[in-house]
Formats: sequence, C-alpha cells, structure tokens
Amino acid sequence: MKNILITEFMNEDSINLLKKNFYVNYDKTMFESEEKIKKEISNCEAIIVRNKTQLQKYILDNALNLKFVGRLGVGLDNIDKEYCEKKNIHVQTATGMNADSVAEYVIGSSLYLIKNIILFDNNTKKGLWPRSSFTSNELKDKIFGLIGFGAIGKKVCKLAKNFGAKVVSYDPYINSNLENEFNLKFTTFEEVIKTSNIISIHVPLNEETKNLINSNVFNKMSKKPILINTSRGSIVNEKDLIDAYKNKNISGFALDVFGKEPVEDNFYKKIDDTFNCILTPHISGVTQESNKKISEFITNKLITFFN
Ligand SMILES: NC(=O)c1ccc[n+]([C@@H]2O[C@H](COP(=O)([O-])OP(=O)(O)OC[C@H]3O[C@@H](n4cnc5c(N)ncnc54)[C@H](O)[C@@H]3O)[C@@H](O)[C@H]2O)c1
Repeated sequence: MKNILITEFMNEDSINLLKKNFYVNYDKTMFESEEKIKKEISNCEAIIVRNKTQLQKYILDNALNLKFVGRLGVGLDNIDKEYCEKKNIHVQTATGMNADSVAEYVIGSSLYLIKNIILFDNNTKKGLWPRSSFTSNELKDKIFGLIGFGAIGKKVCKLAKNFGAKVVSYDPYINSNLENEFNLKFTTFEEVIKTSNIISIHVPLNEETKNLINSNVFNKMSKKPILINTSRGSIVNEKDLIDAYKNKNISGFALDVFGKEPVEDNFYKKIDDTFNCILTPHISGVTQESNKKISEFITNKLITFFN
C-alpha cells in the first residue's frame, strides 16, 4: 500500500476512506514543523496540504517517491509548481469546492460594510444610540467590481446580481462569451477601480498580482468603494490600505487574508473601533460544508490517480 501524508486538517470521513486504500500519516499540526515534514515526506507517494504547509524545493528535495500533491483549497502560492512539473509530480487543487463559502462571505461583508453595521453595532454596544451618526446604503443598483472572474468571481457575480447590483469585472484570461452568460460587463482594470462601489479581489497571488492594489490604485478609486480581499494578503498593500481608509479613498474594507499570517501586532495598532472594517483569520473558504466537499474531492482524485 502507498503512503499518504496529511499535514493540515481534513474531514474525518475522507481520512477514513483514505485509510481503507493507503497507509495514512495524519497530523493536522505537522505544518508547524518543517523538520518533521522533511522526514515524513521522504517515504510517501502522496501528500495532502492546505495553505500553511510550504512545499518549496528545499522540502520537496526530500520527497523521493512523491507522485501526487493534493491541495485542500485553491491557491498554489505555497507550492513550487515548476519543481513539481519538472519532477512529474501531479498537483491537484480543489478549485470551486469552497467557492460558495467565499462568495457568501464576500456578499455578507459587503452588506455589513455598505450599511455601516460594524459602526452602528460598536456604538450601540457601548450604550450609545447612534441612529443618525452614520449613513447606510443599499447593494441594489451599486456597481460591484470583481478583479478576477474564476470560480469564486462567478459565484459572487450571481449573488450580487440577486441583490440588484450591476457587476463589472477585469480578467484578461477568460472567454468574453461569459459576459452574456453572466450578464455582466468585462472591462479594464482602471474602469473597475474607478467606477465600482464595491471591489472584491479574486485572483491568484503571483508576480503579476503581488502588490496589485497599492497607493496609486487607491488614489483612482473615485467612488470611495468598499474593498474586500479574500484572495491573498500580499495582493493588497496593507500600509497603503490603512492610509487610503484614513484619507477617505475607501469607505470600508474586509480582509480575510494578510501579507503575514498570523497577523503581526503592529498591524492591529493602526486600526481602532472607529474603522468600518471586518478582519477575519483566513476563514472565508472554510465552512463545515466546504471542508467536506474539498476533502471528498481530493480523496476521490487521489484514489483515481493511484488506481
Ligand atoms: N480566503 C480563502 O479562504 C480562500 C479560499 C479559496 C480561494 N482563495 C483565493 O482566491 C483566489 C481565487 O480563487 P478561485 O477559486 O476563484 O480561482 P480561479 O483559478 O478559479 O480564478 C482565478 C481567476 O483570476 C484570473 N486572473 C489571474 N490573473 C489575473 C490578473 N492579473 N488580473 C485579473 N484576473 C486574473 C484568472 O483568469 C481566473 O479566472 C485563489 O487563487 C486563492 O488564492 C482564498
């Protein structure tokens, strides 16, 4: 039987199914110790990870029998894809399996932020009655800008349209026929930035997208939009984001992902309870349902791969 290493949390039923087919070494905290991974990866044919396990060359050099990397999620910025390709190691993502989870998070945060619910809530809990302290707006008829129109962008589009928003998107790599199917407008990056009331980022982190949203871009956000980042932290320059909020270039933001995770203390020091913002610890794609779907998907792919 082949050896499977799992270094981050995975749905229990899927692990049990894997155990019927393989020797499974499951330790959901192993991602914390590169030394352990280097040792355990040496005799396994497959490894299953989320986004915390670094599968870079210096780790993969120890994986002499590795044939399959299963990624319980979408982003591949923690995996050296070129190295895997060179060594003929199949890398399998679970694209789309957590798209509902992220899309619901994006719509939920958009509603909270556009209605200033965070600030109404903070102040009401303090015993104030801030009925006229903040204004509230509707998603209906607002321009919802999507940077990236892949699995998650498409789900967000559908939900936003259900609320009566108009959707615009920038994604230079997709088929423009989707414009009719999804009833949105594909346009330039500049137009999305300039015209949107809400901007949500759904692109992979790579050399092209790193630091994509920086002070130059914030300065062009003429509608004072809400910014939502569920993709990867380094796509948005965090220092410039705080400045943009203080300078009123944006009217609120939701961050589920950060340049460094866990987030460093000095980041929080820049934010107080007068900020119209939501911060969450990289959980937008993690629900009980998505965990089950992702785990089942990767398990089935792995079983098929070795059969
Ligand atoms: N926070 C979370 O829990 C969580 C969960 C799932 C995914 N993610 C992140 O969200 C990202 C998007 O996920 P997805 O499932 O939609 O991926 P996807 O691969 O289906 O879609 C990504 C889209 O981005 C487009 N794109 C690539 N480079 C671009 C660029 N420079 N400008 C504009 N568009 C560009 C691609 O053409 C593609 O359509 C992932 O890469 C991952 O990093 C985060």
